[in-house]
Amino acid sequence: MTIIETSGLTKYYGDLCAVDHLDLSVGNEIFGLLGPNGSGKTTTVLMLTTLLEPTGGSARICGYDTREEAREVRRQISYVPQEMAVDIKLTGRENVAFFAKLYGIPRRDEAVDRVLSMMDLSERADDLVRTYSGGMRRRLELAQALVHEPKVLFLDEPTIGLDVAARRKIWEHIRTLKSRGMTIFVTTHYMDEADHSCDRVAILDRGRVIAVDSPSALRARVGNDIISARVRGQIGDTFPEGITHLGERDNGEIVFSTDHGSEKVPVLFHWLEKRGVSVQSISVREPTLDDVFLSLVTQREEGHGFDDHKFRTMLRRR
Ligand SMILES: Nc1ncnc2c1ncn2[C@@H]1O[C@H](COP(=O)(O)OP(=O)(O)OP(=O)(O)O)[C@@H](O)[C@H]1O
Ligand SMILES: [Mg+2]
Repeated sequence: MTIIETSGLTKYYGDLCAVDHLDLSVGNEIFGLLGPNGSGKTTTVLMLTTLLEPTGGSARICGYDTREEAREVRRQISYVPQEMAVDIKLTGRENVAFFAKLYGIPRRDEAVDRVLSMMDLSERADDLVRTYSGGMRRRLELAQALVHEPKVLFLDEPTIGLDVAARRKIWEHIRTLKSRGMTIFVTTHYMDEADHSCDRVAILDRGRVIAVDSPSALRARVGNDIISARVRGQIGDTFPEGITHLGERDNGEIVFSTDHGSEKVPVLFHWLEKRGVSVQSISVREPTLDDVFLSLVTQREEGHGFDDHKFRTMLRRR
């Protein structure tokens, strides 16, 4: 069953291509849209929620076209934006009641109680939101979003700025909503969180989807083990057999993939030292989605003779 479907969905802001021919098909699942800052996550969500007009292509939610049938789409969905959207001068209950009124929910008090309790906010419901923690405010936003019983929930960076415990709790709630039949489309740049909780993820890079799959299938693409190293000196571009260089992290960590991590660590160590590269630290771990992203971006940078993205932007300018 397809719940969200996009076909060539594209958005330009002037000359800047923020979302570039997105083709996605999302079923009844927790679907994560991952990517670094500025990769086009929010722009995508805004188009899917009918709040932003695409430059090209189309999107359907529960079969309804986001442009032609925006009212129908809005009936099926809820959206929690990246920026906080609760009134801190009101109580939690008043915030949710306001939404319930806006949506014309019948038996409003019951509905408000129900969603506050779902988000574990009943005890604090009559306190001013000003006194809530960041995690509680986020859960209140979820409560608001749930009051009209949407089929599809769009969450833009739901855990940004929260501490580890609060993040974990938000994800627990997201999984519970999924188990009750809701489809959840969630963006995040915390790849590890997506790894634990999303059924499938799409990795976005500069407006383009560079991979779509389950987190485990994506991790399997970079091999069994990751060797990460910190070195002084130039590592060159040839490596021992069975070791692939995935790229270098912003933090200076150099990342390799291999199928036999503990065997290959001494091999790589000696290889580097022999070439005058001093190894400060070297270790083996399991692959993460960050490694997948790094490998995909490195492949793109090495693989193309010219930058296709810039090329298209250039063509459009003429
Ligand atoms: N209203 C706008 N006008 C012009 N450019 C914009 C506008 N909104 C976003 N952009 C640009 O479009 C690109 C994609 O932005 P978007 O906000 O969709 O990314 P994002 O993946 O949500 O980033 P973040 O992780 O920072 O939230 C960025 O280069 C951004 O600067
Ligand atoms: Mg964003």
